[in-house]
Amino acid sequence: MQKGAAVVKTLWAVSDLHTSVAANADMLDTLQPRNPGDWLLVAGDVAEKNQTVLRTLATLRQRFHTVVWSPGNHELFSQGSGEPHGREKYEELVRGCRELGVLTPEDPFARFGDVTVVPLFTLYDYSLRPKGTTVEQALHAAKRKEVMFSDELFIAPFVDIRGWCWERLSYSVNRVGRVEGPTVLMNHWPLEPQLAQALGVPEMAMWCGTKHTKGWAERYNARAVVYGHLHLPSRTTIAGVPHIEASLGYPKQWRDSITKRQWPVPVLEVPDGA
Ligand SMILES: [Fe+2]
Repeated sequence: MQKGAAVVKTLWAVSDLHTSVAANADMLDTLQPRNPGDWLLVAGDVAEKNQTVLRTLATLRQRFHTVVWSPGNHELFSQGSGEPHGREKYEELVRGCRELGVLTPEDPFARFGDVTVVPLFTLYDYSLRPKGTTVEQALHAAKRKEVMFSDELFIAPFVDIRGWCWERLSYSVNRVGRVEGPTVLMNHWPLEPQLAQALGVPEMAMWCGTKHTKGWAERYNARAVVYGHLHLPSRTTIAGVPHIEASLGYPKQWRDSITKRQWPVPVLEVPDGA
């Protein structure tokens, strides 16, 4: 650091670490704070098995001042035989995070400088399916086109996803609606429906969020929104707010590009001590 330069701490973001893949687990070594006060947002899809998710978060918690996690669809994956599934699996992860000191969507919101960091878990409700189709028709079309998400095999049999999504929306609105001042919102699934179209296959958008979070960034005074899920790293400004897709993704997706982009993604910087 240059003499006299202000010391800042950084709010970093990642998503879709998928550390059950060996090459991705190796990438964890690159996630290091620049300053002991740095925070890390982890926007879901750490892994499938709770043990792997918590082991990864424990490693990151040892390095960063604060780690904040929101679940992705892969954290909810289950075969259903002799292991927790659905809501129980999520609740077990929240308990594990509390033991590690990792913040979750079930904890009081923490402040990074003057910004309240809001981890969300809003799932999806198939409302982003192609216009004019029922859920059943859209699922059938996706199966026929072979673009069905694995969620239908590993989440849907164990929980009413739509009902859970709507509960989560109500829970989230109640909590974030009470926050005063600026926020950073984090969710695995994009909050703006238009971002879910980036995969380029209309049927796939129905697993990528819900129409009910449209406009949340403005409504809840977000300085930035962090998300993942698409495995298409990007930064899109909508109504003046940057929406940052912070994914690592699978090796074939990141191997040629990771050194050419900034990852982890810096979201905010504030003076250390703020
Ligand atoms: Fe992912």
